Amino acid sequence: MKSISLLLILLITFQFAVTAQTGKAIYKDKNAPIESRIKDLVSKMNPDEKILQLNQYTAGMNTNVNNIGEQTKSIPAGIGSLIYFSADPDFRNTIQKKAMEESRLGIPILFGYDVIHGFRTVYPISLAQACSWDPALVTEAAAVAAKEANLSGVDWTFSPMIDVARDGRWGRVAEGYGEDPYTNAVFGVATVKGYQGKNLSDPYSIAACLKHFVGYGESEGGRDYHFSDISMQSLWETYLPPYEACVKAGAATLMSSFNDISGVPGSANPYTLTEVLKTRWKHDGFVVSDWDAINQLIAQGVAADRKEAGYKAFMAGVEMDMTDNIYMQNLKQLISEKKIPMAKIDDAVSRILRVKFRLGLFDQPYTTVVDESSRYLQAESKTIAQKLAAESMVLLKNNSKTLPLSSSIQQIALIGPMAADKEDLLGAWSAHGNEKDVESISEGLIKEFGNTAKINAAKGCDFDGNDESGFAEAISIAQKSDVILVCLGEKRGWSGENASRSTIALPAIQEKLVLELLKAKKPIVLILSNGRPLELVRLEPLADAIIEIWQPGIAGGSALAGILSGRINPSGKLSITFPLTTGQIPIYYNMRQSARPNSGKYQDIPTEPLYWLGHGLSYTTFTYSNMKLSATKIKKTDKLTVEVEVSNTGNVTGAETVLWYISDPACAISRPMKELKYFEKKELAAGAKTTFRFEIDPARDLSYTTANGKRFLEAGDYYVMVNNQKVKFEISE
Ligand code: BGC
Repeated sequence: MKSISLLLILLITFQFAVTAQTGKAIYKDKNAPIESRIKDLVSKMNPDEKILQLNQYTAGMNTNVNNIGEQTKSIPAGIGSLIYFSADPDFRNTIQKKAMEESRLGIPILFGYDVIHGFRTVYPISLAQACSWDPALVTEAAAVAAKEANLSGVDWTFSPMIDVARDGRWGRVAEGYGEDPYTNAVFGVATVKGYQGKNLSDPYSIAACLKHFVGYGESEGGRDYHFSDISMQSLWETYLPPYEACVKAGAATLMSSFNDISGVPGSANPYTLTEVLKTRWKHDGFVVSDWDAINQLIAQGVAADRKEAGYKAFMAGVEMDMTDNIYMQNLKQLISEKKIPMAKIDDAVSRILRVKFRLGLFDQPYTTVVDESSRYLQAESKTIAQKLAAESMVLLKNNSKTLPLSSSIQQIALIGPMAADKEDLLGAWSAHGNEKDVESISEGLIKEFGNTAKINAAKGCDFDGNDESGFAEAISIAQKSDVILVCLGEKRGWSGENASRSTIALPAIQEKLVLELLKAKKPIVLILSNGRPLELVRLEPLADAIIEIWQPGIAGGSALAGILSGRINPSGKLSITFPLTTGQIPIYYNMRQSARPNSGKYQDIPTEPLYWLGHGLSYTTFTYSNMKLSATKIKKTDKLTVEVEVSNTGNVTGAETVLWYISDPACAISRPMKELKYFEKKELAAGAKTTFRFEIDPARDLSYTTANGKRFLEAGDYYVMVNNQKVKFEISE
């Protein structure tokens, strides 16, 4: 280690000597090591230039209704970053030119934007993406999003959101990968890989930003921006693991959260921002505050005024102020009062410059301009959108093989407020998505069934309200049809930021529509498009089949139509539990055992949710057999292989995701009853059999964490579970 540092010092000194002779500044030399370039540049910057780098303003029209406050400010040439609301590469290049030519040192601006589930080619919301259990496909989708964004002038996305979320009332549950830490880690890493490519400096790579560090999903009662009470134990076992995995995978930046962690807000928390992130995990990129998060420290009761808020956030480890203008207004004074040491400012500036150098912005600051037709919605991107939409849809119920629809069906009733809707299929945070690119459910069906069946359409009712005037028409078309497809759900603004709901049930008018349709005495297929798990306690018994299509993006219509016709065999499984009623919340698969497992139940409702994480049906059947271990007793340092044979016992090809869980029933720290540790998805032809394997590494898969992040592995009995099989094994010293 010592000799490596010595070599680095020698290299940097040599570089300084060479550049002194040639007269070209080291930071401008693209062949010089990045660390030498940073050191050189920081040494040339004055305090004002440094402070400018620590700030982010906006450019273009702000489309996020939640972000009130000052909009586009006049842009200083030396600003560190801009949230780029435009998609015009020329506009960006004009601003960048100003930075390169009018700032004294020619430091490029970093252009950031919320590219969450696609840029113009909109993919399913993240919660749905996780239901595909196909991280490789998610990487492909993120790479397309990065390319479209990059060609529109964006260098940096505020994504992925890897906040474990277990309360469907919280609207932002749509933005993450569900209730499980491991699933969030896997899909977070897959997304980071897609955005950042092999190398940040590759053409079309953009920098990722993990958010919201950390614990935002715990918002009390599902109320957005609300206080969250997170113990150190749950911080380490539930909320930090996805971040640790994504930091290890090279995520360039993180965003600090609004919520509190054991009383200290995420945006002023030295433990998470410095001790954990920078000291233990050695993250060398930077942290940006969330919008207004520094200012909000006053409302959260930890800062008396903006100056103190800025001081606390900066000292805790937030390097960039997102639009609050607090660093701009206060850091200089805090430095002159010797409250903030210059070395800490230099470190913060270096972290921001490091990301800019890694992105290659100093060497190629401008966006290549190509026209929109070759920038967006390329055939290959649409194919990925179509595949991901299909893989993330979950067949929740399918009594008496209602689906796929029989080829003898001649008349299909297509009813409900979602049937012809386009905009809401895009979901929240759809960047520059455009409803005109979206294929509605109705359009998808006409394409799929237009030649074989007549589609009779009626809206029936709106998403909300109490207007029943459309019921009669809906019933009459239902009566003359062979099957009723009822398309219900949520408008896109009902989930996402600042979109909490007190109940996760659909509005009563939608439930009433289905009750009315029962009168037609025809099979009912419920098609649900929403951004959160739903309370289906009243609807489920009325339906013969239910498909959860989430907010599927541009290609939802044809993906769904393919599933209805049987052209596509559904393979999605839930990444989040659907409670039976809202009153069951919190309910998630990895709860701990109750002290009295058979008592303490609700008197008025069952204890079980309607669908656990992992639920999802197929048009074929899979049988699990011969689960076996390579040994029943191993040492802590050994590895163990567990296998299970899975057979496709139905008549059609299908893909099955095998979810491997472990449990440790007796440990120094009480652990969840089940912990997901690995999953794999494979396609099997009808009649085929294959072996799924999970290689258990005890240190990685069986160890647990203390409340301070120290992992420990105990000797004793463990179980490995798959489907409904469970096998015991023993770990010895
Ligand atoms: C949200 C972030 C988002 C930021 C910038 C905030 O209100 O919480 O998730 O990245 O705005 O748009």
